[in-house]
Amino acid sequence: MPPKDAKILVTGAGGFIGGHLVAKLRSLGYSNIRAVDIKPLTYWYQRSDEVDNRVLDLNRHDACFDAVDGAHTVYNLAANMGGMGFIENNKALCMLSVLINTHLLEAAKHHRLPGRFFYSSSACVYNGAKQTCTDVTALKEEDAYPADAEDGYGWEKLFSERMCRHFREDFGVVTRVARFHNVYGPHGTYAGGREKAPAAICRKVIDAQMTGKPLIEIWGDGEQTRSFMYITDCIDGMFDITNSDIEYPINLGSSELVSINQLVDIVESIASVRLDRRYNLDAPKGVRGRNSDNTLIRKELNWEPSVKLRDGMEKTYRWIWDEMHKAGKESVVNLT
Ligand code: NAD
Ligand code: GDD
Repeated sequence: MPPKDAKILVTGAGGFIGGHLVAKLRSLGYSNIRAVDIKPLTYWYQRSDEVDNRVLDLNRHDACFDAVDGAHTVYNLAANMGGMGFIENNKALCMLSVLINTHLLEAAKHHRLPGRFFYSSSACVYNGAKQTCTDVTALKEEDAYPADAEDGYGWEKLFSERMCRHFREDFGVVTRVARFHNVYGPHGTYAGGREKAPAAICRKVIDAQMTGKPLIEIWGDGEQTRSFMYITDCIDGMFDITNSDIEYPINLGSSELVSINQLVDIVESIASVRLDRRYNLDAPKGVRGRNSDNTLIRKELNWEPSVKLRDGMEKTYRWIWDEMHKAGKESVVNLT
């Protein structure tokens, strides 16, 4: 890890993972954190007044140069993204995030960044043909090629991974890249259109209880499979990968594969309810099955994400429950 007084830049700090990263860095004693996001400060999911918080549009070249100035280490978590409902309908916006990573890399080169540059890639880089069945073979790092990434978002991530590689090889920026598999936990998006399945299912189950309508809408037939990584595993893995010698993009994800129906079972059991299920086959579905092969991360770091889905979902559900009840959000939660 960098020295405790090193300036650490976290981009996307107003978002889910960036907010947790800043909180963790503070708890570890880092005293010189610069946190950047495009959102007004009042919309940041977590915020500390002890931090150099800046509202900047990192699509802009000049904003990236300002943000990186004086930094020792960069964690780039800024991207215009969301769950399937967002990325399927906003491909151009997703691809425009290429500007963020490109300008940040240029700034790192210009300012001769002394520490590491971390880039948050995604399991969406993997070849679609390897994700066509529910009992999918877990994805190994080499399965990203030949390339057939998720349209829009996945291609941006794959291109940006390569940009990191070339800035490392040609310009000496010490880049590290993790491919996150669906991350969930408290302080994330649970409504509004960008939410992913774990938070969406929690919201819908809570909504059913608040409205007294024992019905849940599930996108697709519910048999599609995923693995979900709890946020604390994501943060721990990010630190380890950033500080490691691993120069190529590596999986950072849970290997606990579940169907969406099983995810709903878990949330129903946490909530002690049973709901009627209505399947919306026209909703965004993404790949049929996706799991993380953790052979490489186990070999390299002697570690892999280990928080059980049930345990992480308990915490996530409780947080969303509190948020929805605090805000009395019956109207917001009627989203499907
Ligand atoms: P998030 O949407 O909660 O956070 C991203 C933040 O980036 C947002 O707060 C957003 O306002 C900010 N941002 C967007 N455009 C910006 C700009 N032009 N300038 C400055 N800030 C900007 O998402 P997250 O879940 O915290 O994801 C963080 C990173 O991890 C992203 O790069 C994402 O693609 C990647 N990732 C996340 C997951 C996941 O399941 N959460 C999976 C794979 C990859
Ligand atoms: N979002 C959402 N909301 N998904 C639902 C819902 C719902 O109410 N009901 C069922 N699903 C299904 C989706 O149709 C999809 O098949 C599956 O749950 C998972 O959806 P998401 O969590 O939205 O996304 P994803 O796993 O396909 O992709 C996510 O993870 C990638 C990394 O693994 C996205 O967030 C990507 O941006 C991310 O890179």
